Amino acid sequence: MLRRSVIGPRRRSNPAKITYYEDLSPGTGALAPRAAFRSDARTLSLNGDWDFRLFPTAAHAEAAEQAEGDGWEKLPVPSHWALHGHGAPQYTNIRYPFPVDPPRVPTENPTGDHRLVFDLPDDWPGPDEGAGGRTLLRFDGVESCYRVRLNGRELGTAKGSRLPHEFDTGPHLLRRGNVLSVRVHQWSSGSYVEDQDMWWLAGIFRGVTLLHRPEGAVRDVFVHAGYDHRTGHGTLRVDADPGGRVTVPELGLTLATGETVTVPGVQPWSAEVPRLYEAQLAIDGERVPLRLGFRTVAVEDGVITVNGRPLLLRGVNRHEFHPDHGRAVPYATMREDVLLMKRHNINAVRTSHYPPDPAFLDLCDEFGLWVIDEADLETHGFTYDDWRGNPADDPAWEEALIDRAARMVERDKNHPSVIMWSLGNESGTGRNLAAMSRWIRDRDPHRLIHYEGDRSCEHTDVYSRMYASHEEVEAIGRRAEKPLDDPRLDARRRALPFIQCEYAHAMGNGPGGLTEYQRLFETYERLQGGFVWEWIDHGLRARDAAGRPYFAYGGDFGEPLHDGNFCADGLLFPDRTPSPGLLEFKKVVEPVGICVDAAARTVRVTNKYDVIDLAGLAFGWSREVEGRRVAEGALEVPPLGPGESAEVALPEAERVREAGSVAQDDADGEEWWTVRAVLADGTAWAPAGHEVAWGQARARGPAATRTPGARITPVRAPSSPSLDGAITLGPGTFDPLDGGLRTLHGLPVAVPPRLNVYRATTDNDRGPDEETSVAAQWHRHAVDRMRHRCDGVTVDGESLVVTARVAPPGGFFGLSVVYRWTGEQTGDATRLDLSVDITPDGEWPCPLPRLGVAMGILAPLDWIEWYGGGPGESYPDTRRAARIGRWATTVDGFQTPYVFPQENGSRGDVRWAELRGPDGGGLRIEGRPAFALTARRWTTGQLEAARHPADLVPGEVLHLDLDVAHHGIGTASCGPGVLAPYELRATRTRFGVGFTLPN
Ligand code: GAL
Repeated sequence: MLRRSVIGPRRRSNPAKITYYEDLSPGTGALAPRAAFRSDARTLSLNGDWDFRLFPTAAHAEAAEQAEGDGWEKLPVPSHWALHGHGAPQYTNIRYPFPVDPPRVPTENPTGDHRLVFDLPDDWPGPDEGAGGRTLLRFDGVESCYRVRLNGRELGTAKGSRLPHEFDTGPHLLRRGNVLSVRVHQWSSGSYVEDQDMWWLAGIFRGVTLLHRPEGAVRDVFVHAGYDHRTGHGTLRVDADPGGRVTVPELGLTLATGETVTVPGVQPWSAEVPRLYEAQLAIDGERVPLRLGFRTVAVEDGVITVNGRPLLLRGVNRHEFHPDHGRAVPYATMREDVLLMKRHNINAVRTSHYPPDPAFLDLCDEFGLWVIDEADLETHGFTYDDWRGNPADDPAWEEALIDRAARMVERDKNHPSVIMWSLGNESGTGRNLAAMSRWIRDRDPHRLIHYEGDRSCEHTDVYSRMYASHEEVEAIGRRAEKPLDDPRLDARRRALPFIQCEYAHAMGNGPGGLTEYQRLFETYERLQGGFVWEWIDHGLRARDAAGRPYFAYGGDFGEPLHDGNFCADGLLFPDRTPSPGLLEFKKVVEPVGICVDAAARTVRVTNKYDVIDLAGLAFGWSREVEGRRVAEGALEVPPLGPGESAEVALPEAERVREAGSVAQDDADGEEWWTVRAVLADGTAWAPAGHEVAWGQARARGPAATRTPGARITPVRAPSSPSLDGAITLGPGTFDPLDGGLRTLHGLPVAVPPRLNVYRATTDNDRGPDEETSVAAQWHRHAVDRMRHRCDGVTVDGESLVVTARVAPPGGFFGLSVVYRWTGEQTGDATRLDLSVDITPDGEWPCPLPRLGVAMGILAPLDWIEWYGGGPGESYPDTRRAARIGRWATTVDGFQTPYVFPQENGSRGDVRWAELRGPDGGGLRIEGRPAFALTARRWTTGQLEAARHPADLVPGEVLHLDLDVAHHGIGTASCGPGVLAPYELRATRTRFGVGFTLPN
């Protein structure tokens, strides 16, 4: 229906022709929203292959209506048509991809006609059988506006892409030969309030169902199941329309709807123990199974509690995404998401930025995740005009926005997992947000209200921010944040609990800084955790011209306006392989603190769960020498309650011996103790033995590298080059002119080792601001183009000394370097050592990206074994998940395939690494004391130039970086940069590496 107020106060549109997809109404004809539930009433899924045809404009669709039978193809429903060869996806973050002139949309409005011809099953109840009732047609998600016709009669229109709409088929449904026609418009007035940071993907992307509603069927049901932690009693009331009886067999309960009963001795629901009680609502026409989770959400003394216990949210923001299906996420994938979350110590999800498929919330109830359910609302693009005309503040949009709140709340109100309703995302401030908040509070006063975009928090129950720096979060933790102008609102906000609804932007390599955030969350009671942005990279599976597969991001479909790879910012790669960021997050948020003190032979174990004790975990210790487990055993840890901790003794030498050697003990090697906590028994989400937490500490330093008693002979370099013009020093030959290494243990050295300070910039290095990012500084100061001047090559008895200055063109600063090579012989074994002495000069205006030597070996060395941090990559501020051990993989396995290529794969704290070829030959590199290793078949320049991993074509040379230090990673792609302790500044540095043959 066209309302007079469709024209906003500032933004005036030509009112000439407002169509149903442009008017501000949420639609016409849909029934009032209600709870999602299944019942014993008949349903028929209409998912499957439908007829489809796409038109460039709505007018073309209109015109073609007469020409039935023309141009139909098959399209699966649910799906997005752009992922099936009709049109193309487009990715934007904030900016609207069309002129902003609400509520008008472009004439070029891809319009997809969907058609399904179907018969009712023979036994489908219908008025003609006297069975009574009616049949509804439900759409769970259609983007962005649609019109439904059944057998030529219009049932209605709807907007609100991620919301359900039900239409009464009335007298139009036939037993046979029904023609269901759904016209879907990509753009509508709804698009103005659906400006989420994601691909624009139109279509019927969630299920379509036919539902029989028997006479006397339940219209709606609202379960109120609370839990009083003081008495241990549950309370239950089930409101239903019409009323009936509720039974909970397990509790021996029968009650009338509308009646409140106290239920002694129930087990409450929590994300840690998602206890559900099966119940049934029976009324005249229908039986509805219900799942009850007893729990009470509150804010007590400025802290969010559930069942009286404060929560610490270890959360992620989850967009619905699948690399082949976009937001048409199959059920198995939703389940995989939940299992992956549980297995990575995640306990909360924000359904950014719209209500998810309802089945996802069933899974959250069942497996246990705290949920912030978010309304399908974002008007972020208005920020470019200083929020003028923002639908969130224009009364003309009130009905549409309330409809969005109501459809979410009504659909999802029976999920115990949902503890907060979120009004939407990045929609500025305004009266409609206030109205949504009022509506929700009135309908469901028992959950909290969340919205981040209004700093006054006037309409919310929690203070929520995104990407606030550590410093600011700490101030908030102390309730000492910068005050609001209005003292009343300030006092109110200061008393609220705090969460970061988005933090730690997981774009590309990173995020760094997680540990420091977690420390704050665990220190200040007001800080109740947060939600990493985001769960999964939105990379769409594609192939390049050469047929090579890759994951596409913004611009890959030729879109003129796009935000590039800003959509690839998840903890999972698009195919749901966990990225190093997820493994780091799992470690940082682990719910059990394990702090090993190897010297004291004790371990401090802390229970960081909110609800459960540690009885479900089995603890074990192991002792490792040079990365080999030499003894292991079980560890008795008391079943500590939440927040409790205890110091537990590790076994004495006696018991260690009794535990037996599982590998040959090397009495001299470096010794570590590891303590692990694993699931004692299988759970719904992981098998017994699944690792939940671990800790490690070093008990003894590395052994002397030399075999005692062996005769070591320093190798002398000849004072003049040999006949072939090379200087030979032990297993190395050198170029006498510049001192470059030519061969090493017989392997041709294609790129002689020399100082390298540059890395292929990460998304976080590049940050959002091309001017101020650390990458911009590196480029401005030519740190990516360092020049190497050789100042001298001298053979000084036992060593070859090369002096050099490494500095950027145009720069008044640099690094003076002394490379000192020495060789030695022990029996038959030869060894070449390099020590590097670096002295900065001038004033360095920026941090260094990395510091180390880079070299390239022309040999098919493909297998890497190392003793050090692993198994995955780590950088100074992302190294919690790396444990010291012996690891092995291929050169391919050494790469982390970020959707947008960038620095990756560095293994830290490497004591030694052995590189081997297919013929067994190879090289061993020993650090003095340890180094970080990257190994690739392409150069840093090629890595930086690549746009997709498929651009990286392996060459013949194995490029190695042996780094003494790296600049941290941070999370500046959205949020704070590298924290001060992890900045790499040019300072006097010495380090060394030794090259031998593999053992
Ligand atoms: C936030 C926004 C998210 C996403 C993120 C950056 O501002 O709420 O939707 O855009 O930034 O990736």
